Amino acid sequence: MCIRDRFWIVMSNAVLGGIVVLVGLNPYTVAAHFVATSALIAVATVMWQRTREGDTAPRPLVGKAVRQLMWFLTAAAVLLILVGTVVTGAGPHAGDSSEVERMPVDWETVSKLHAVLAWIVVTLTFALWFVLKAVDAPKGPLNRTRELFLILLAQGVIGYVQYFTDLPEVLVGLHMFGSAVMWIWVLRVALSLRERPEVAVDLPGPAAEASLTKA
Ligand code: HEM
Repeated sequence: MCIRDRFWIVMSNAVLGGIVVLVGLNPYTVAAHFVATSALIAVATVMWQRTREGDTAPRPLVGKAVRQLMWFLTAAAVLLILVGTVVTGAGPHAGDSSEVERMPVDWETVSKLHAVLAWIVVTLTFALWFVLKAVDAPKGPLNRTRELFLILLAQGVIGYVQYFTDLPEVLVGLHMFGSAVMWIWVLRVALSLRERPEVAVDLPGPAAEASLTKA
């Protein structure tokens, strides 16, 4: 992704923010704004990671099955965020005015679905950590996965407390922040499963051995 693409993601989010205000905090636009912001966070996280590694082709550090588990985890995390925005859209936090329409879904039901998805993400994260440990994976992926697990637990506690305490604003804000941190860590775990060294290392193989024998 080039600088121009990143620029347009930032700009479209700014325009979307303006539209959200113009349409009086319509819940669908508020949800779209949150999702676009998460896309922006993803781009920023990948960029940050790219500044810390080389330009050689990415080399996986784990097998295909583990990478597939990571894809499931990422997909479940995306779904968790999407459903979270519906919980907010159907809930009582409509901004300054109580006249703002809400999404026509049952708040209790969608909140429970959101919590079930959170448990699925927690379980997949634990499964990933367990598999990484079993295959003696490098420290990087293991540490990132452990950190993600702890972040999820903290975020889950905030989620339940705000659910049972009539959504105090400070906890809602913390829960939004927690969602951003969780999303960054999901991406960091995914990125830790491969490496891009500065220079391609020529490992001694049959060709190298042949030239040594000739010399
Ligand atoms: C553990 C991972 C979790 C993540 C990443 C997450 C993420 C989110 C996101 C992205 C939103 C929407 C924010 C917005 O649109 O402003 C949200 C809202 C919400 N979440 Fe979670 N959530 C998690 C767990 C939970 C759990 C376990 C519960 C317990 C029921 C919960 C309860 C809620 C509630 C009640 C809202 C609506 C808040 C409002 O109306 O302002 N969350 N969550």
